[in-house]
Amino acid sequence: MLGLGQDLMIRSGLDFVGVDMSFSIERYKEESKKVDVAGIAWDEVSANPLSKGDLFCLHYMMDIENHVPLYLSHLLVTRACMDPILTAFLACWNYEELWHGENIGKLLNLYGVEFDTQDRIANVRANLGFQNSVSILSTMAGSWLMKDFSAVYLTIGAINELSTLTGYGALIRKSGHPVLRDLLSRIIKDERRHYAFYFNSAKEWLSGNERAQKIDRWMLNRVWVPVGQGVKRQEEVDALAIYLFDDEQGEEDLLELDAKIGKLPGLSGIKLMSKALYAARERVRRNPRWAWRLIENEVWAVTPPRKSPVGQLTGRRLQESETS
Ligand SMILES: [Fe+2]
Ligand SMILES: [Fe+2]
Repeated sequence: MLGLGQDLMIRSGLDFVGVDMSFSIERYKEESKKVDVAGIAWDEVSANPLSKGDLFCLHYMMDIENHVPLYLSHLLVTRACMDPILTAFLACWNYEELWHGENIGKLLNLYGVEFDTQDRIANVRANLGFQNSVSILSTMAGSWLMKDFSAVYLTIGAINELSTLTGYGALIRKSGHPVLRDLLSRIIKDERRHYAFYFNSAKEWLSGNERAQKIDRWMLNRVWVPVGQGVKRQEEVDALAIYLFDDEQGEEDLLELDAKIGKLPGLSGIKLMSKALYAARERVRRNPRWAWRLIENEVWAVTPPRKSPVGQLTGRRLQESETS
């Protein structure tokens, strides 16, 4: 069975929200490149306002884009990476995601938010501490124990890419910022390709494989969390969900997203992103300050960790001792 495809070339035409669902790994390898930012009006970034909610989301999104190499580190130790088509995809994917984070950071800097990108990334990673290693080991062990691990991973990949591009679409709509719209529209094109790869690969694995379908559904209902959770706290995840999706259009977007994932074999009727939104709403209902206080108080700085200072993890001891 399986293969994430020989030359994965699946043509299922346009899906119902207009994403071109054809994907060829050979074409992707040839065409993969950093997001083209030529002609973006960078000098006009600060001419239009961004709300606190917009800024909160941009920091969250940048941090998660910049965290991709660590997600990759979890995947490369799994049985899924015995497949050369998957590793070819991941090699290109990792590079493309790097430039998403870089450009969102650039936009924030030009808007006047000051931070050093490398320090921020290093602090986010250092804050994960021991938990990161435990997580890598458990993912690795789980993958070798579970024959259909790839089905779960590929489906999660599809959900995450689709929720990322849906989130960018929502931020374009919320912010009404012309330069941000231009940048995110370009990034969304990459995310669509990532989504097409994962969706088609998951579909291929799940088709006619009832055992994989059952495990996939069971695991998604128990282990899946929205993009960024783990790196970000529950309240931060809720703040993003509430700001972007807690209106009619947002809720509709998430229901549509779930419906798309529900088209995968065995996942009919599954509710993931919409369920996460309802859970976030419930937490805000119980405590109206929940999530909103992070946005209102501009809680988006990343504080350095108390244990494992960044210098110990990055080889920047010299710099630190020079400044102390
Ligand atoms: Fe991205
Ligand atoms: Fe992506």
